[in-house]
Amino acid sequence: MTDKPGAAIAGTGSYIPEKVLSNFDLTKLVDTSDEWITVRTGIKERHIAGEGETTASMAVAASEKALEDAGIGPEQIDAIICATITPEMPLPATACFIQDKLGAVGASAFDIAAACSGFVYGLEIGKMFIESGRYEHVLLVGSETLSRITDYQDRSTCILFGDGAGAALLKATNDPQRRITYTKLKSDGSKWNMLQLPGCGSRYPASHEVLDKRMQYMTIQGRAIYKFAVNSMQQLILDAMKNCNLSVDDVKMVVPHQVNRRIIDSATQKLGFPPEKVYINIDRFGNTSSASVPIALDEARRTGKLAEGDTIIMVAFGGGLTWGSAVVKL
Ligand code: ACO
Repeated sequence: MTDKPGAAIAGTGSYIPEKVLSNFDLTKLVDTSDEWITVRTGIKERHIAGEGETTASMAVAASEKALEDAGIGPEQIDAIICATITPEMPLPATACFIQDKLGAVGASAFDIAAACSGFVYGLEIGKMFIESGRYEHVLLVGSETLSRITDYQDRSTCILFGDGAGAALLKATNDPQRRITYTKLKSDGSKWNMLQLPGCGSRYPASHEVLDKRMQYMTIQGRAIYKFAVNSMQQLILDAMKNCNLSVDDVKMVVPHQVNRRIIDSATQKLGFPPEKVYINIDRFGNTSSASVPIALDEARRTGKLAEGDTIIMVAFGGGLTWGSAVVKL
């Protein structure tokens, strides 16, 4: 036992909307093929929010499962952090909707916008809150309704994205065997234009012209991001292992942002990770941005691939550009 409180992941939960959008469905919308999408990305299908489902409603569903898993009541939550690029509304924060629905009356609530790195960014923030002694329970949620900012006329982007939510309940602990041991966050704002949604913000407020130019949708420089992503994912994992003095044998599983199967395979194979030590669900869910890492983490735990005491590395990067990693002893 140690005096300094650490932050442990005490529970996880996720929510995936029912509606499936398969590669075959997409061939009816744009000039593409199941083969092209599968070979280039590893994605076979993704789930899309139904009518009435929103970023907050999915976040609440994931959060309820995480709270149940942790055995924590909503009134015990001290802070709610929601990572999202598809907020319920620009104002107020999506975290406030989550707080209201959960009945987490004692919690502070705010959003963070770090795109696909959002959950890993939130892990560092939650860890700091808890280590400072200020908070005991932090609910961290990544939730995205990317289908509502995806241009289904653009074949280079619409094949990539899906909707969903994942949550983790972070809890103060004195047990040195169970905690978030390491986090590292980075960003490079000079590359902001590699992934953007230019319309409906302060630079290009909502107007007929903005909508006519389809500026309310995401655009990406896929090839450039691909190169950056392979290198950064490899470097992030390597740095995390060096800093925590871990070998491949010590790591039970890498839980990466589900950006592209080829990117994940290339980065992890170069470091010597066998396939069973890398969690993949991109084939079923596509890229769900900030929800991707917590959905993968929750699935891995609930299917028994991860258990208490296992050491995992989470790694993500996304628009900003932002990137980050976390080492957690579950
Ligand atoms: N179906 C068929 N052909 C397509 C499709 C499609 N859906 N999309 C693009 N093409 C064509 C292009 O028009 C191009 O044709 P051309 O050679 O005649 O010009 C050709 O395929 C190659 O296009 P590229 O964009 O160079 O294809 P690439 O192999 O790079 O794959 C992809 C594209 C999958 C987007 C890849 O670059 C990638 O995964 N990038 C990184 C991931 C990414 O950007 N994710 C965005 C989310 S952000 C994040 O999570 C960090």
